[in-house]
Amino acid sequence: MSNRLVPVAVAVLCVGAFAALTGCAGDQPTAPVVNGDPGRGRERIIHYGCTSCHAVPGVPSVSRGVGPDLDDFAERLYIAGQVPNRPEELVGWLQHPQAVEPGTLMPDLGVTEQDARDMAAYLYGR
Ligand code: HEC
Repeated sequence: MSNRLVPVAVAVLCVGAFAALTGCAGDQPTAPVVNGDPGRGRERIIHYGCTSCHAVPGVPSVSRGVGPDLDDFAERLYIAGQVPNRPEELVGWLQHPQAVEPGTLMPDLGVTEQDARDMAAYLYGR
């Protein structure tokens, strides 16, 4: 391959890799799939008292700003600045924040996996 062709080849490879990556990632990040019920998730968010620390869109909140506002959560790149904002990571975070980030101010609240999926579905807006 001549030197002039190398940049072209690199560009073609990048496009291919990008297509493969986005193909693997499905329709993320705008519509992550968590197999949860957002209506039930909203109810669970109230049940666990998440709104004592977070402002959650569509849920009455008494938050004093301990945790970050959870609006537009699907557009966030990272969860707690620690792990990529992907459905499985979010479900893990909601169940065991202390395992993901030891010492974080967010407590382990005994969240079940199904509850985490439902709340994740609500936070992702579907
Ligand atoms: C005692 C206060 C408190 C409670 C209760 C609480 N959180 Fe948090 N939460 C936090 C704090 C503080 C952070 C930021 C953690 C960090 O960055 O280390 C956080 C982070 C998060 C994040 C990541 C936000 C981001 O922008 O990265 C999500 C999502 C979240 N909490 C959801 C919930 C849900 C859902 C509940 C209820 C099951 C809940 N939290 C209960 C304090 C709380």
